[in-house]
Amino acid sequence: MDTTVKIDARDVNFWYGDFHALKGISMEIEEKSVVAFIGPSGCGKSTFLRLFNRMNDLIPATRLTGEIRIDGENIYDKGVQVDELRKNVGMVFQRPNPFPKSIFENVAYGLRVNGVKDNAFIRQRVEETLKGAALWDEVKDKLKESAFALSGGQQQRLCIARAMAVSPSVLLMDEPASALDPISTAKVEELIHELKERYTIVIVTHNMQQAARVSSALLIISSFITLERNFMVPILRVTMFTSPNSTPSRSTISSC
Ligand SMILES: Nc1ncnc2c1ncn2[C@@H]1O[C@H](COP(=O)(O)OP(=O)(O)O)[C@@H](O)[C@H]1O
Ligand SMILES: [Mg+2]
Repeated sequence: MDTTVKIDARDVNFWYGDFHALKGISMEIEEKSVVAFIGPSGCGKSTFLRLFNRMNDLIPATRLTGEIRIDGENIYDKGVQVDELRKNVGMVFQRPNPFPKSIFENVAYGLRVNGVKDNAFIRQRVEETLKGAALWDEVKDKLKESAFALSGGQQQRLCIARAMAVSPSVLLMDEPASALDPISTAKVEELIHELKERYTIVIVTHNMQQAARVSSALLIISSFITLERNFMVPILRVTMFTSPNSTPSRSTISSC
């Protein structure tokens, strides 16, 4: 079966100041797959994930070498519009971070920011998106209430809906269930399963069981400590595992 590469990272190195956080990582992520990054705290999972929508651009004194292509385009090329990129590559964070607005306005936010004025269209899109995020039945009678009135798990699904509303093709999720109780976690995981029909999803977790439940492929980033000229330098080893019933993915193994 033919597969399309959605995200292609080639020989990625990343520094915070002098600190070499990511070393020579290469991997391909297929379209409409869920890939999980797993590894101990501090090994570079979030750093790598944030490169896919240029969130690290906001951190001063950082440096990147190598290439990250999405749909064949190097997203660090000069001509790339970062706001367009972030519309296409949405992000969900560890702690639910709804805006201090109503449930409706949280989902409508991206559309309004992008200049959509047609209220009938916005209403339709909000409903469609909340249905897609498996939240509609729980909130349809209280769309005007504050998003903060929702439970943590509902807030996180609302944040996923907010990211979905502007029609991205990639969703990045950084430990999206780690602040949630087990029932909310199960709902978020179930949602991720459903969303992979439509989106390419990259999720960070440090929970091996969760990675196995939601993803078709795992990128394991292990961090080893070595002593080098009196500095402690973490070394990354990247391994790709593919479950037997998923389509094969390729990744290079590298360490330095
Ligand atoms: N803004 C930052 N400035 C400097 N160092 C950072 C910054 N963010 C992360 N780091 C460092 O980069 C390494 C990787 O961090 P991170 O990607 O957050 O790891 P993980 O998500 O796997 O826990 C860690 O050593 C961390 O301290
Ligand atoms: Mg992290």
